[in-house]
Amino acid sequence: PHALFARLRRESPVVWCPEPATDGFDGGPGLWAVTRHADVVAAGKRTEVFSSHEGGTFIRDSSPRELRDMRRAMLNTDPPEHSKLRRIVSKAFTPRVVAGMSESITRHARDVVDKLGDGGDLDFVEHVSAEMPLLVLADILGVPPGDRHLLYDWTNRMVGFGDPQVGDPKSYVSAFIELFAYAAELTKRKRAHPTDDVWSLAVNAEVDGERLSDDDLDRFFQLLVIAGNETTRNLFNGTILTLSQHPDQWRRLRADPGLLPTAIEEILRYFPPVTQFRRTAVQDIELGGQRIRAGDKVVLCYASANRDEDVFTEPDRFDITRTENPHVSFGAGPHFCLGNAVARLEARALLPILFDRFPTIEVIGEPVRARSNFINGISELPVRLSTAV
Ligand code: HEM
Repeated sequence: PHALFARLRRESPVVWCPEPATDGFDGGPGLWAVTRHADVVAAGKRTEVFSSHEGGTFIRDSSPRELRDMRRAMLNTDPPEHSKLRRIVSKAFTPRVVAGMSESITRHARDVVDKLGDGGDLDFVEHVSAEMPLLVLADILGVPPGDRHLLYDWTNRMVGFGDPQVGDPKSYVSAFIELFAYAAELTKRKRAHPTDDVWSLAVNAEVDGERLSDDDLDRFFQLLVIAGNETTRNLFNGTILTLSQHPDQWRRLRADPGLLPTAIEEILRYFPPVTQFRRTAVQDIELGGQRIRAGDKVVLCYASANRDEDVFTEPDRFDITRTENPHVSFGAGPHFCLGNAVARLEARALLPILFDRFPTIEVIGEPVRARSNFINGISELPVRLSTAV
């Protein structure tokens, strides 16, 4: 799609797209695609015009019931409600709290790599990229090791959400129900007996005498399970895919681990795990030379903004030494990813351990792509891991 995005940025940076009917879903009313970096950032920041609450953040319109449910999660709220929720949960995600997770994240990274033994041919998604975020999330949520398999099972069932090839609607609906029941129990325990996990902090965090209600907490638990999993999983998949397409840079990175921080940012720019999120205009407004009307859907195309030639020199070139890299893979504005530091920490912990243990990693078959209209997802990635140089 990058050639098309480049043309749109040049010729029609905010463009009206019809939405055809697909796979049993009715066609939507159409949407505005916002393709330039400056416009994506501006629209992300202007929550009073571009609402996350009005129609939710998924491209497809949701049923009134789905929308009512979705709107209770922070992701689908606007200020001032969003500001209140975000202030409270930010107490659980301070830089100090995240830095404190470093040791356990490194331990998980070692365990994941140890379990690979001498490597060989395997599915990278199942053995590495799905595993790591789940272990970290289980720690964040204070889910005891004996219950980790539950998280694994729910997320697997929820991954099918919206993918007609995978999703068994009954299975993912019941996964949500089970997850809520579990979250409610866990929350009750953490209110009474806080432990040293992030969830205990979130449950008991207070700003101006206000705490999250039980309902807020159920939704936040669900949001974390969804937001922290597939995203980070595809950061790891993107790492292997992109580096295997640029073997010279992979060699350079192995030789100089000091390049890891810029390499991770470049992978995020080049292969954004989330390609877009949606807003709904709540007043008439002009953006990119177009007149957008109240009620119109507006899609923020992060994947396109990340290749904007007005912001990035040679945007189609993958360059692990790129230092000016204001990509929007974590969004822009007040909804900027709450877990960005956790995701970065996971990558900084896992990748050096993985590359050290397996000096040769080859992609040996076609990756299987997951179908989604916002996750840049890979569901199978056949690799050969070798301990030989
Ligand atoms: C929000 C991407 C990892 C938790 C977002 C948004 C993006 C994003 C683009 C903005 C949504 C919007 O503007 O509507 C990513 C990517 C990740 C990642 C690419 C991994 C590479 C994580 C992790 C966590 C997390 C690990 C939790 C531990 C959240 C939450 C929000 C969010 C709670 C909602 C924030 C709000 O509404 O204020 N993420 N995310 N994310 N992310 Fe992430």
